[in-house]
Amino acid sequence: MPKITYITPIGTEHCFDADSRSSAMQTAVQHRIPGIDGDCGGVADCGNCHVWVDQNWLERIGPARAGIEAEMLALTDGSTPFSRLACQIELADEHEGLVLRMPTDQH
Ligand code: FES
Repeated sequence: MPKITYITPIGTEHCFDADSRSSAMQTAVQHRIPGIDGDCGGVADCGNCHVWVDQNWLERIGPARAGIEAEMLALTDGSTPFSRLACQIELADEHEGLVLRMPTDQH
């Protein structure tokens, strides 16, 4: 069970033990992190699970996948090279300590 930290736009940190078989979006929804609703159910079609991966983690997590994830992020406010859709981040034990920051608005 990797420990994952979500940081809200106002700097509040939410730290949880995540199920290593779930996505970062599913973990956020399960723990009711405000601002990540998972409206599309995790098929990269709503963009409201946009997160910025902490710079130290980007190499391990990897950039947004080409195709539907990158296309959705291109339409998302505040998208940067550190952006990922939390629903496309499949958690595993090696993600212990992962830090995800949330933008001000989720669309
Ligand atoms: S939950 Fe909709 S894009 Fe991730």
